[in-house]
Amino acid sequence: METIKNVQAWEILDSRGNPTVAVRTELNSGAYGEAAVPSGASTGKYEAVELRDGDKSRYKGLGVLKAVDNINSVIAPALKGMNPAEQEKIDRRLIEMDGTENKSNLGANAMLGVSLATAHAAASSVKKPLYSYLSHQDSYILPVPLLNILNGGKHASDSTDFQEFMIAPAGAQSFAHALRMAAEIYQALKSIIKEQKFNTNVGDEGGFAPSLPSNQAALELIIDAMQKAGYKPGIDCFIALDPASSEFYEDGTYVLAREGKRLSRQQMVDYYVKWTREYPIISIEDGMAEDDWEGWKLLCGAIGERVQLVGDDLYVTNIKRLSKGIEHKASNSILIKLNQIGTLSETIAAINMARQAGWTSVVSHRSGETEDVTIADLCAGLSTGQIKTGAPCRSERTAKYNRLLRIESELGVKAKYAGMEAYYNLKR
Ligand code: PGA
Ligand code: ZN
Repeated sequence: METIKNVQAWEILDSRGNPTVAVRTELNSGAYGEAAVPSGASTGKYEAVELRDGDKSRYKGLGVLKAVDNINSVIAPALKGMNPAEQEKIDRRLIEMDGTENKSNLGANAMLGVSLATAHAAASSVKKPLYSYLSHQDSYILPVPLLNILNGGKHASDSTDFQEFMIAPAGAQSFAHALRMAAEIYQALKSIIKEQKFNTNVGDEGGFAPSLPSNQAALELIIDAMQKAGYKPGIDCFIALDPASSEFYEDGTYVLAREGKRLSRQQMVDYYVKWTREYPIISIEDGMAEDDWEGWKLLCGAIGERVQLVGDDLYVTNIKRLSKGIEHKASNSILIKLNQIGTLSETIAAINMARQAGWTSVVSHRSGETEDVTIADLCAGLSTGQIKTGAPCRSERTAKYNRLLRIESELGVKAKYAGMEAYYNLKR
């Protein structure tokens, strides 16, 4: 039987230049797997704990040497000798060893690095690519990419209140076609922004971050860019938003600073309803704040039949919170971020729970990323239908898209692009 011989961790840098955890799991056969852990900026308050050293003399307290040491001295000896194919057992072991509800003891960053590196090692030991190792079928759905081409909120300075303006090329024929469409729209957007004398610098996720006067101005620019690139808004390509509204929710109101507006929950819902009538918006993530369950129910009642409403901070990839959302009909989709929950098995459980409820799931990167491409394999292997991993720009973002291009070419006829089917639970 294949067994875990060693687990080793070290500190690396993420795409923002902050430290994060990298892990290598080695098996007795010599097979191995590696993974690196991402990190958010607009983190939800119910996320599992990302363990940071807090030692201000290194990386302003952001070092992860404690998490690294937890792996090397606590986790590694405990996993030694275990069967790497028993992912759930390994993840359960990590959870038991941590012993807390929010993974604050070992750190979700430490646990996730180990969980993923071990999955990679197990796949490698049976000579399968990870997507195929994770799959229980012989055919695959490749995801509609949601590409964040305009960055605001916490991911850029002096830009829009809303954090992410994404494009969803659901009308494409293949993943490669979708990515080409997105890249062409991205370049068209750049030239329009330049013509209008805004700056073309990019934010944390590779999207442009012009100093626009309003959130609506961003929508107009994107529609223009689609047309300029020769694509039809609402047929070839749609808009997906992540306002990340927990970030501008203050004392029960939604504060749109750039527009000088303070909106009640009902006014915020009305704002989205109006927008979704005027623009080809197919998806809104975190339209309402993480504690505003009433707001979520209102929004879902108003537009949940025709717009995908994705809970990110609301569910934090946690089946306890997700089951509450399903019970209360708070949305119709969940954002999946591995490091919000801290193990691969718990992540897959959230995807499965959503699917059983007839919901969609969108597998996501974090704003602080690495060259790790595990989420691309997760998406293809579990045929989740959608991925969001930033703009078609900056290698930590394009690495995931490029991995999907590789998977598509490897699979040939065994792969089908999700296209509009990704939104199977909407009436459109
Ligand atoms: P984060 O942002 O990685 O900074 O949390 C991504 C998101 O809100 O979806
Ligand atoms: Zn989000």
